[in-house]
Amino acid sequence: MKQIATILALSVALVGGLALAKEGVKDPGVRARMETMDTMAMNLKLLSNMATGRMDFSAGDAATAKAAALAAAKAIPDRFKPHDMDPATDALPVIWTQWDDFAKKADAARMAVELIDTDTQDQLKQSLGAVGRACSACHTTYRS
Ligand code: HEC
Repeated sequence: MKQIATILALSVALVGGLALAKEGVKDPGVRARMETMDTMAMNLKLLSNMATGRMDFSAGDAATAKAAALAAAKAIPDRFKPHDMDPATDALPVIWTQWDDFAKKADAARMAVELIDTDTQDQLKQSLGAVGRACSACHTTYRS
């Protein structure tokens, strides 16, 4: 039960305010990195819905969602490296003054997504918590 509550909290935290976030963003690089984040969030929401039974579990759909989230997670360093800016960004400048740590956190998130186990609903549930922690670990320091 505790795990289900964690996953629900995670999906609310990740997807809340999504539609608002990109409004008014003109810089294409900033938009692209936001879309990378949104892709991860949407696919993780789908996975957490399956893990909690809000949605029927399908190993095939779960594997597809994982693959999409993984491709996005792998793209994080390339999306942020150019230091694109926009008044509407939530990215903190400290990203580019301690890039190595940012890149390390991106890699940790990639690894957590890679370890999502989509074979069964139970395994999916077990493996999602680490992903949420990896997302939060970066947001805490690098997102306003
Ligand atoms: C290495 C750091 C890092 C990791 C890991 C990370 N994020 Fe982000 N995320 C950011 C930063 C920085 C922003 C702000 C981007 C901006 O506004 O330019 C952001 C923004 C977002 C947004 C808002 C996007 C928008 O449209 O404004 C969502 C949703 C999001 N992240 C979800 C996730 C999810 C889900 C994960 C885990 C799978 C994750 N993030 C992992 C750094 C990270």
